[in-house]
Amino acid sequence: MTTRAARLRPGDPCAFVVFGAMGDLTKRKLLPALYNLQANGLLPRELAFLGVARRALDDAAFRDYAAAAARELGARPAAGGSAADFTACVHYVKGDFEEAGTYEALSAALAHAAKEHGTSGNAVFYLATPPGEFSAIVRGLAGAGLTRQDAGWRRVVVEKPFGHDLDSARALNRELSGVLDESQIYRIDHYLGKETVQNLMVFRFANGMFEPIWNRRYVDHVQLTVAEELGVEGRGAYYEEAGVVRDIVQNHMLQLLTLVAMEPPSTLAPEAVRNEKVKVLDAIRAMEPEQVLRDAVRGQYGAGEVAGKRVAAYRDEPGVSTTSQTETFAALKLVVDNWRWAGVPFYLRSGKRLARRDTQISIQFRRPPLLLFEEAGVEQIEPNRLDILVQPEEAISISMKAKRPGPGIVLEQVKLDFSYARFGPLPPATGYERLLHDVMMGDTELFHRADLVLASWRIVTPVLDVWSSLPARDFPSYESGTWGPAASFELLARDGRRWVNPG
Ligand code: BG6
Repeated sequence: MTTRAARLRPGDPCAFVVFGAMGDLTKRKLLPALYNLQANGLLPRELAFLGVARRALDDAAFRDYAAAAARELGARPAAGGSAADFTACVHYVKGDFEEAGTYEALSAALAHAAKEHGTSGNAVFYLATPPGEFSAIVRGLAGAGLTRQDAGWRRVVVEKPFGHDLDSARALNRELSGVLDESQIYRIDHYLGKETVQNLMVFRFANGMFEPIWNRRYVDHVQLTVAEELGVEGRGAYYEEAGVVRDIVQNHMLQLLTLVAMEPPSTLAPEAVRNEKVKVLDAIRAMEPEQVLRDAVRGQYGAGEVAGKRVAAYRDEPGVSTTSQTETFAALKLVVDNWRWAGVPFYLRSGKRLARRDTQISIQFRRPPLLLFEEAGVEQIEPNRLDILVQPEEAISISMKAKRPGPGIVLEQVKLDFSYARFGPLPPATGYERLLHDVMMGDTELFHRADLVLASWRIVTPVLDVWSSLPARDFPSYESGTWGPAASFELLARDGRRWVNPG
């Protein structure tokens, strides 16, 4: 197993090949993340970056593009001005992903990279393309013999969405496993690269005091919120096919849930951790149609005001149908059928154009068994709550009661706070740094395994099926800049609970 200390060395020598080199993801995340890794001394000296795309460009033009992207997105130049070193290893391969010629050209470029940059025959193939292209690329790579590992390792990074539902995810898994070993496939989820998300494992398993209360005896319920101020930002056509359940819940949110709910793994070996994650997902009860109607809420944003600016309704966004049925908000009540969590609901909600950007996990504990402060006029004691703030603020806090100083007993809700700010200003990061480094190190812990993806689809597919067969009659159902449709509040109110809204 790779230890954390060993990880803090540069990744293995390799060629880093990106399909979709001129796309948004490459520009906004991958290139800046690689520059940041270099600034931290975590890129191998023996590296080649090969961009593959359809546009006619040469190496020099692509180098300028890469350097400009890194500058624009605030990536850090490496100490000693060696940012230029990264740019010097950038090359471009023009080609159509459907054509065999592209893979022949790539093969030649890889051979050249091995000679010029000493990449040792290792290669990462990053599919930063729309999902419709995944199959053609993987077939093309295999057809040209580029997935064979006889002279160096070959790893393929697959971006989400990984399938559209359970059946299509199965089909994609089959297709990939036809030409690749599971150990070569890195299904990436950028939420797992976030600092606070990585800290969840440390919080739970490096502190002995939480584990004894981390179960149905002490926890009343768990809330997970991924709220965005953003709308669909020019991705209307993609989003029409996706909706928030496919875009956020199936992947990012269920991953957050596994980190909260999984059993302690026996080691930090990737397979040990991923086994525990799958077990939790397998324990989540799949909803029957009548449960979907009761325990799943969907919404779509209308016009409104977000961060002081007027914004358009979803149906008025470019690329979106004026009668769209796509959900931009979802709230679900999930039940985990295992000994630890039986009877503890997990409430999940995510939406676009909400009041504030906020990703937060709240563990709400049970009330004290006896009310001892009645005489002081306290009729009900609010339960303790542990909040894990993922973004934009990165913090962990515990809400508890304290006596306000002075005569008599006056209780006040106070917070024990741990903020990441105590580590000083965090260097700019895209969230992809750790993940890209892990790929170069062959560490799969933070990547979705085939069975994990299927387990997540098993949970959300029944919801999507019911929703697609019953059009929503109330869309748009929430004003932009609010916390979503009324039905989301009712979902918790019915159980005598309410969402923990920030602020
Ligand atoms: C992406 C979704 O996976 O995550 C986007 O496709 C969403 O729709 C984004 O905006 C949110 O990521 P973050 O890191 O800003 O929370």
